[in-house]
Amino acid sequence: MDASPKLKILIVGSGGREHALLQKCRQSPLVDSVVAAPGNGGIAAEAICHPVPADDVPALVGLAQSEGIDLVVVGPEVPLSLGLVDALEAVGILAYGPRRDGAQLEASKVFCKDFFARHQIPTAEYASFTEVPPALAYLKDHPAPIVVKASGLAAGKGVIMAETQAEAEAAVRDMLEGGAFGSSGAEIVIEETLYGEEASIHAIVSGEDFVCLPPSQDHKRAGEGDTGRNTGGMGAYTPTSKIDASLQARIENDVIQPTLAGLKSDGIDFRGTLYAGIMLTEKGPKVLEYNVRFGDPETQVLLPMLADDLVPLLLASAKGDALPSSVRFHEGAAMVVVLAAGGYPGSYPKGDPIEFPAHLAAGTAIVHAGTERDNDGTITTNGGRVLGISAQAPSLREAAQNAYALCDQVNFKGKYLRRDIGHRELNR
Ligand code: AMP
Ligand code: GLY
Repeated sequence: MDASPKLKILIVGSGGREHALLQKCRQSPLVDSVVAAPGNGGIAAEAICHPVPADDVPALVGLAQSEGIDLVVVGPEVPLSLGLVDALEAVGILAYGPRRDGAQLEASKVFCKDFFARHQIPTAEYASFTEVPPALAYLKDHPAPIVVKASGLAAGKGVIMAETQAEAEAAVRDMLEGGAFGSSGAEIVIEETLYGEEASIHAIVSGEDFVCLPPSQDHKRAGEGDTGRNTGGMGAYTPTSKIDASLQARIENDVIQPTLAGLKSDGIDFRGTLYAGIMLTEKGPKVLEYNVRFGDPETQVLLPMLADDLVPLLLASAKGDALPSSVRFHEGAAMVVVLAAGGYPGSYPKGDPIEFPAHLAAGTAIVHAGTERDNDGTITTNGGRVLGISAQAPSLREAAQNAYALCDQVNFKGKYLRRDIGHRELNR
């Protein structure tokens, strides 16, 4: 056993991903205590939450200093793109996540696409624009269906899949002239539409060293059958048989390794999570986008499948040390179903009390996302994605049955969920 003092960890963020990270870190024998900023209702029931917003870099640095934090685990992308990890390093505090330079892979789609081109990483053909006339000229040569994307962070909403030329032209004008997405839309990417099934590959990275978590799939659309508006994610499961060992090896060789080599040759020492959104096309896997943090809700299924301690992986990555050469995962499958507030991803009410069952079946869990805990311990709704209901079981079918049985035991006014999470895998 390690004789060094046990760690105090600060988790930054307030969603289901952060609740899952907190629970996994608290299981580690290396850890003394875990606190969160700002946290949510479920986190508050288990740990101290400090009311510091996840995008207030100076206040987070001050909090980490005053609390004597040994390791900060950054959940969301915004603080990473604002340089939280750089600011913590400057005061000698270890942090899990990329510095601002690495975070550009997610924060700027133009940066990311230019990076792909420079390092021959398979992706959709594209061009980038800041002015309307050349963008419209490009659309004449590359007719719809085509994809128009705001370059900057837009909480998953800045991607327009234009079916017609008129929609594509409107998206270009809305972003570049109309101020849709604000400064995030001042530069755009126009790219070819890729066809196939999507999967998520998460890697914990330390420079050129990496450990992949099992492949997962999430469901971004609000409606059943993957219809309706895009959301942050309505559910996820792992593993997916769509990615077998040989395809996994191909993705690691053709996508992950060249990405890490490319980052290094560009002078970026990348540490933290690299999460590739991959389209499995007829011509092979192509990267749709990179995220530089764990997926939400994918984290809620990936971390429970990790049989080893997460904290040594986070620590090695934060220090830039070598990662363990092998990491163990549980057999079987896991699923998470999101319970959302009625109206999400549009406007929705807050403050409705939530009823929970007295007991949870083995292998099931309730992860909090948009919840708040009153002084008397009552939990109320406080966001669009309210809870993640998860289950781990020998098969995905059993995981689905157990997760949905629990979904029916949790109630709040206007509860909305998709009943078909995992449908592709379950119907294979
Ligand atoms: P992004 O934020 O770039 O991952 O885009 C969000 C979602 O839009 C992806 O998960 C895909 O479902 C879809 N998407 C983005 N780019 C493309 C593309 N080139 N072809 C097809 N679908 C896309
Ligand atoms: N589940 C999608 C994301 O975290 O970006």
